[in-house]
Order: sequence, then structure tokens, then C-alpha cells
Amino acid sequence: SPPSPTPPESVIRPRIRPRRLRRTAPLRRLVAETRLSAADLVLPLFVKEGVSAPVPVGSMPGVLQHTRDSLRKAAREAVEAGVGGLMLFAVPATKDPIGRAATDPDGILNVAVADLVAEVGDATIVMADLCLDEFTDHGHCGVLTDDGHVDNDATLDHYARMAVALAEAGAHMVGPSGMMDGQVAAIRAALDAAGHTDVSILAYAAKYASAFYGPFREAVDSSLTGDRKTYQMDPANTAEALREIRLDVAEGADIVMVKPAMAYLDVVRRAAETVEVPVAAYQVSGEYAMIEAAAANGWIERDRAVTETLTCIRRAGASIVLTYWATEVARRLP
Ligand code: PBG
Repeated sequence: SPPSPTPPESVIRPRIRPRRLRRTAPLRRLVAETRLSAADLVLPLFVKEGVSAPVPVGSMPGVLQHTRDSLRKAAREAVEAGVGGLMLFAVPATKDPIGRAATDPDGILNVAVADLVAEVGDATIVMADLCLDEFTDHGHCGVLTDDGHVDNDATLDHYARMAVALAEAGAHMVGPSGMMDGQVAAIRAALDAAGHTDVSILAYAAKYASAFYGPFREAVDSSLTGDRKTYQMDPANTAEALREIRLDVAEGADIVMVKPAMAYLDVVRRAAETVEVPVAAYQVSGEYAMIEAAAANGWIERDRAVTETLTCIRRAGASIVLTYWATEVARRLP
């Protein structure tokens, strides 16, 4: 007999239809596995000493180097939008080989932390980047040996003193980002010895030597020439990231961070599966700049791209996301 003119029913009439749950916005909302909320977002902020008006960061449209006053205002706006925390970076008026302004209680980072705590301290988490690179004239994250290498153990002493200065200024959380061996243990011990057992540590545990920090260097007037490859990680590695993350947890990190975010989502996922502490990811300056630049050219839909990247960073396993879009995105979240 001739073959049937129509294929079997099951071939042209699927019984299982995943599209059914994508049909309308309420359905898609109901079944979404990952939700973004303002509380998950942390806003990095820059404050610059000795300026009378905020200075725009050219490579990061919309981002400013704040005055102490405009910093308070930006913090207030972020908190009103519901962001979960603030991460402060400071640009001192003068830099020197050992980054004295970082440990000076009257240094710009410490006084600005106190400003933030006074302004919004009971409504959000005030965090400070704990690193020397904004403060050193050579731009490295630590102090140098006579022959110009970054001196790991000597740097730990500076970090310990910086941690105590930040805690005395009122910081709720410090974020060591210098990738020195033993930095979390050194900072924890110093904080505890000074009675600051409540100050927590968000460790930049797996921080890669990345080209995506380019615009940040402008944001902090960095004087670095060369690179940070002798202390930040090789983008080729994940086993090393897991080792760094486990070490930081063992040394007392309360939260671990992977940085950058988008090109390292596999590391974020493995971190989330490896440790029991919260995992954060930092959507860095270059990730911000790429989307802003493409959107300014009309090549990408800005708001959709922003939401998509943040959702995907959360999906990969980060429960906390540092992003320069935090306030803006927090405002439009349900
Ligand atoms: C070091 C630090 C850097 C960033 C955060 N903390 C710069 C670096 O390691 O070179 C980069 C953040 C960004 O690019 O958005 N203090």
C-alpha cells in the first residue's frame, strides 16, 4: 500500500511544549528560576580628595569621582533605591611609595567611610576596598622591595593597619583586593586584636589579572605602569581560583568574591558549589564601559543588556553582585 501522505501524529504535534510556560509575561515571571533584587546589589563609589565638584570618569559614562558632599548624596540615593551595600574607593590628593593616606585616620578613604556611616550607616552595609593601589605612587597593590618587587609580607602589615583604621572609621565590612598571600588571616587577626570582631571581610578571593579593569584605572587616577600578573590570577586557571577561595574561607573570609564577573561565570559557579559562605561577583569597570559604549552607538539595547548581565551573574551562583548600575537597576526592580 502507498505510504501515508501525512507523517505520524506525534512528529507534527508535539505533546510536550516548553513554550507553553513562555507565552505571557506573567507566566515567565512565575517560572523564573533567578530573580534580581535590589538587596543583592552593591554599588561601588569613588571619592576624590581636594575637588570642589564631582569629576566625571570619561571611560565610565555616568560614574563620578565624588566630593565628600556628593558622595553622601549618591549614597543616600542608592539606599533609597534599596541597594544592599556600598563599596568605597578613594583617590588621595598625594600618593607615596607606601600609601600613607590609606592608614592615616584622616586619610580620604577613612574620613569618607565615616561620612557614609553617618549618612546611611544604619540602612545599608558600608564596605571599603582594602588595598594600597589608589594610595601608592607606583600604583601597585602593595609596598615594594628595593629591587621593585611587590613585597608580600611587608604589605600584610600595611593591610592590617588599614583594616583597623577602616574599622575605627566605622566600616561594617572590608574588601581586601590586593591578592597578597595570607591577607585575610592578617586582616582578621588585626581586627580581632583591636576589638573589631564584628567587622566582616569580603575577600576578593579569586581576582584575575584582567584587561577589564582598564576604565577603573582612570577612576582612581592610577599611576600603575605595567601589570599585576605577579599577584593577580592568570585568566587561564580555575583550580587555582578554588584554592584561593578555600584558603580565604579558612583564613576567615565571611564572603568570597570572583572578579571580573562575565568572563568568569564558570568560576562563580564552581565557587558557589565549593564553599558555604556567600559568593559575590564584581561586574567591573570594563564590563560597564563595554555596554555603555555599545549602547551609546546604538548597537545594543542598554537596559535589556544590563538586566541580562546581572541576571546571568546571579544565575551562575553569585548571591551578591557589585555593579556600577546598582542604583539605577535597584530603582526599576519590582
Ligand atoms: C584594586 C582594585 C581594582 C579594582 C577593584 N579593586 C583594580 C585592579 O586590581 O587593578 C577594579 C574594579 C573595576 O575595574 O571596576 N584596589
